[in-house]
Amino acid sequence: MVDVLLGLQWGDEGKGKIVDYFAPKYDIIARFQGGPNAGHTLYVNGQKMVLHQIPSGIFHQHIINIIGNGVVLDPVTLKRECDAVAAYGIDVRKNLFISQRTNLIVPSHRALDKASELQKGDAKIGSTLKGIGPAYMDKTGRNALRVGDILSPSFDTQYKELRAKHQTLLNNFNFTEDISASEKEFFEAIEFLRTLNIINCEYFINKSLAEGKKVLAEGAQGSMLDVDFGTFPFVTSSNTISAGVCTGLGVSPKQINEVLGVTKAYCTRVGGGPFPTELNDATGEELRKIGSEFGATTGRPRRCGWIDLVALKFACMINGVTQLIMTKADVLDSFDTLNVCTAYKINGQEHTEVPFQMSGVDIEPVLKSFSGWKIDTTGIKDAASLPGTMTNYIDFINNYVGAPVKYVSNGPGREQIVAI
Ligand code: GDP
Ligand code: IMO
Ligand code: MG
Repeated sequence: MVDVLLGLQWGDEGKGKIVDYFAPKYDIIARFQGGPNAGHTLYVNGQKMVLHQIPSGIFHQHIINIIGNGVVLDPVTLKRECDAVAAYGIDVRKNLFISQRTNLIVPSHRALDKASELQKGDAKIGSTLKGIGPAYMDKTGRNALRVGDILSPSFDTQYKELRAKHQTLLNNFNFTEDISASEKEFFEAIEFLRTLNIINCEYFINKSLAEGKKVLAEGAQGSMLDVDFGTFPFVTSSNTISAGVCTGLGVSPKQINEVLGVTKAYCTRVGGGPFPTELNDATGEELRKIGSEFGATTGRPRRCGWIDLVALKFACMINGVTQLIMTKADVLDSFDTLNVCTAYKINGQEHTEVPFQMSGVDIEPVLKSFSGWKIDTTGIKDAASLPGTMTNYIDFINNYVGAPVKYVSNGPGREQIVAI
């Protein structure tokens, strides 16, 4: 049985914390898409840890963590992260497994990402510059190097061929930064990667499922950043939605059980692109300050706004969400009034469906107001103690999106979560 946990907004919903919380219920935690553009925060023994490549179950030594074929893997980031995890006494050679089909990010992918963004100028995506787009382009363009290739004696030749192709592209961009400086570190990381567990992942995972093991697929980014269904072209380059689990791990759709969708009690976005409920005012600033809304990967300030139920309902639909998990509810503790967006007004007309084109379109959010709860909720442990004003807010969201909120997260700590 495979359960899926993924973000329903524009990323950073708190997936890392929630995966870490649920991890003990599973035998395997597997990343199925994305790469080091992700930044998943969790707390281990009270210390903050941000994971980019490794699944968020890694701090549970007995749980197997898998980097699936749908992921793009930067060996340099992986090595750094494995070293950081080892400092907590975790032996990644025991609980980290990497698919041989996982595509590699090479230094020139990062350069291409930068060159492409520079060329776009003001229309840039606001990419994390981790080489994600170019790496996925090499996958679909059938040029990529995969983890299994590093075990072949011809790897160096394959690398040089790809590097030469990239150099031509970089020349076309008139991009002159020297990438050879990053190559030493890259090859050291490849050497390290050769010492890790590289597996035939689809067989491994399906055998585990046949033995009755429980798998949690950990999404990165969010549904509104999905390459097909997000706010294109301001999206990432992978399928972030539940459908990506099948292609990203090699499991059948029949294996998918619960789809746990994570949403903040409000909304954030980092990078460019449409964000109908964005607050460019003191309230937005307040959300950023109280919620510490700064990117876990790039440190950029996150854009903040009210929860967007039009987008959330859409995300629940395309993912088949069976349970909602609402995070960062405590960030709203001090607000007098809360708003939720129930429709988009475009050219004077109200829409409750996500339109094809959202960028370059003037979308005015239609808002419904709620009273804030105005109490400190961070210590609450049971649903009965949640303020009525909060349950009103949650009930409205349940009814609007058609999926039940089953957990409310009321702080960054592992124990700060209330089952409803
Ligand atoms: P992810 O990418 O979805 O894993 O989310 P990030 O780690 O990028 O961002 C979520 C941030 O919110 C992190 O700093 C978390 O520690 C923090 N966080 C998660 N859940 C809660 C919560 O319920 N309340 C508060 N105040 N912070 C939270
Ligand atoms: P987690 O897993 C928030 C955004 C970038 C940019 C766009 C494309 O932590 O939720 P990319 O580097 O993928 O080409 O950037 O997507 N983005 C994220 N935003 N959280 C993330 O991951 C993100 N990963 C990418 O800011 O707008
Ligand atoms: Mg994040």
